[in-house]
Amino acid sequence: MNRGAPKSAAGTEPAFLAACRRQPVPHRPIWIMRQAGRYLPEYRALRAKVDFEALTRTPELAAEATLQPLRRYELDAAILFSDIMTPVQGMGVELSFEPGPVVREPIRTDAQIEALPALLAARDVPFVLETIRLVRAAAPSGTPLIGFAGAPFTLLCYLVSGRPSKEFAAARSFLYEQPQSAERLLLRLADAMAEYLAAQAGAGAQALMLFESWAGLLGAPEFTRFALAAVKRTAAALRRLSVPLIYYVNQGSHLMSAVAGLDVDVIGVDWRSGLAEVRRVLGPAKAVQGNLDPAALFAPPEELRRQVDGVLEQAGSTPGHIFNLGHGIWPDTDPDAVARLVDYVHERG
Ligand code: CP3
Repeated sequence: MNRGAPKSAAGTEPAFLAACRRQPVPHRPIWIMRQAGRYLPEYRALRAKVDFEALTRTPELAAEATLQPLRRYELDAAILFSDIMTPVQGMGVELSFEPGPVVREPIRTDAQIEALPALLAARDVPFVLETIRLVRAAAPSGTPLIGFAGAPFTLLCYLVSGRPSKEFAAARSFLYEQPQSAERLLLRLADAMAEYLAAQAGAGAQALMLFESWAGLLGAPEFTRFALAAVKRTAAALRRLSVPLIYYVNQGSHLMSAVAGLDVDVIGVDWRSGLAEVRRVLGPAKAVQGNLDPAALFAPPEELRRQVDGVLEQAGSTPGHIFNLGHGIWPDTDPDAVARLVDYVHERG
């Protein structure tokens, strides 16, 4: 059964989209980063039959993975099932998922950067656009679909370091050793992700999210020069579309004043930041998304409710808050804890 989000009054905008635009909402919208994934037995059953990459490249299966969490929970949005590295593969970069992305030949030279072709989404990743069309046809009405991409600097981290890492030392030293090369790579990625996200919106995505998962590696000056400059370019290219833009900044408490000037609708933050302070620094022109610690889903039910109360108190009553975790849900989370979380957030209103 498709449960979908709690009903809004007929003809009104879904709560998730209204909150992105800082409009009043009938209930606090909630969705969960990595809501389609290994904590769900039905996702593990899909993965037992097909590897992750095949799952992302087969529209019927990627659509099924996207829809799985919506059947279990009254979520206020769906997020496309894919990966931030999928469009980079479409640009000819060879990589495998082990399970994190491992790039066969990390990008370190100007020749490699110059050789990266522009992305043409309909030609290079048609299966992503088809997945979006299938999800839109099948999702419960009133549950918007979020399209996404990696933010340019986060993609650079994987492309230069070549694999997941705590420090991303190779990527971070690249910024200092070869700053012009880094800027050229970021520029190409910024344009490719603008094209990719515009194509997703064209196929039916109703909001677009950029994941800056490794923002916290940088101090404010380098974040501003490299990561923010690139994401500004992507955001500017998408402004002509009428879909809300979300920029997720992981471990970015020290970057909020830099991010305040970015022309997007929503800033997503992790649990290390207090939402009251984030909203004060960002000002009234931004909505916020977050930021329960994924570890809080392991608390007893009563303590989980207290933790949710804490996030809601921090977020305050000014319109423009989307409830989420501060980062992706952990694979060993109890699916029943997610049900309790979603129901309690809606109950609180
Ligand atoms: O949120 C969702 O439900 C949509 C699906 C989604 C995936 N990856 C599926 C996935 C999304 C939005 C992403 C984005 C992504 N991918 C990010 C940004 C979000 C974040 O977590 O900060 C990053 C950094 C990646 C890169 C990546 N892909 C890593 C680090 C890993 C391994 C870590 C892990 O979770 O295992 C992946 C693989 C990946 N992407 C999996 C899933 C469900 C696991 C693959 C599997 O099923 O074996």
